[in-house]
Amino acid sequence: MAKRTYESASIRVFWDSDICVHVGLCFNGLPEAFDREARPWVDVDGASADAIAAQIEQCPSGALRYERLDGAPQEDTARPVSIMPMTNGPLYVRGSFTVADRKGNEWQVGPRAALCRCGRSENAPFCDTSHREAKFRSAPRAPVDE
Ligand code: FES
Repeated sequence: MAKRTYESASIRVFWDSDICVHVGLCFNGLPEAFDREARPWVDVDGASADAIAAQIEQCPSGALRYERLDGAPQEDTARPVSIMPMTNGPLYVRGSFTVADRKGNEWQVGPRAALCRCGRSENAPFCDTSHREAKFRSAPRAPVDE
């Protein structure tokens, strides 16, 4: 669909709708800056740059990213990789990683991504929320002591 950019004097926000998993942390967490009914839906003047940056770092898919333009620290992209399987959903990846094809073409470089594990995504390897319609059920975790 679209990659968009929203900018104030303090922060530039990047939005990639192709990889959004629509969990709504942004508009539930900071409705002053993220309003899915408004156009544009990102208001970079609606909250402080610190608040917007902190909220964007909660975005599990990496569809929202930012660049600070005011000298404030950028998002830490050098963190060790962590992978969190979501119940009946994607793998949330955070940290310093690269998603690439076998030829080494980079699709996404950290710090956040939601990777499909249901096999239904039409935007593989990224989750496109098809798991919901497919009623994907993740296997229960094996007990740790077995
Ligand atoms: S896990 Fe979301 S589309 Fe596969």
